[in-house]
Amino acid sequence: MRDAVPASRFKHPIILIGLMGCGKSTIGRELSKLTGLPLLDTDLVIEEQLGKSIPDIFAEFGEARFRALETALLRYLADRSSAPDKRNCIISTGGGIVLKPENRTILRSLGFVVWLNVDVPALLARTARANNRPLLHNADRAATLTSLLLRRRPLYEATAHMRLNTTDTDIPTVTREIIHAAKLFYS
Ligand code: S3P
Repeated sequence: MRDAVPASRFKHPIILIGLMGCGKSTIGRELSKLTGLPLLDTDLVIEEQLGKSIPDIFAEFGEARFRALETALLRYLADRSSAPDKRNCIISTGGGIVLKPENRTILRSLGFVVWLNVDVPALLARTARANNRPLLHNADRAATLTSLLLRRRPLYEATAHMRLNTTDTDIPTVTREIIHAAKLFYS
């Protein structure tokens, strides 16, 4: 049986970053269950704000507008984090949220940032069925994921307080390791 972890142990959010398909949403849901903290998925918030799917947002407004919405959401979360009635949470992010320097700074100041690092073959398998990622709507997904990882690896590295290779690790082990590290981070 899994032990529940009191949410009060974590003063600030646990934030998950990493490439598409690395397991941010799945691990985020598990962390949310274990800690009792609500899960905030930045992609979902933006979709709800606009009443449109990510592919539609990219198609109608372009990637730059989507990136601006990510930054606006992070600024809002940063403002809220100093409010006395702030609600703590687990944050799962879109894979490109680290692209802007401002976002990287806000993420690190918001909470404990965990980079879920997964090998490209596993990313390929995990993103094979879903059709909701506009950056992968092209013939050579392997080449796209490889070049995204190459470009973003230093950005994930610079943003994260913790890096976990989760290619072959099961979800309970990953969540246990994150919670253990977050407790130390916040102790
Ligand atoms: C993106 C990742 C997606 C989503 C958008 C762009 C990226 O989120 O934000 O399609 O640039 O890597 P996931 O990482 O949750 O798939």
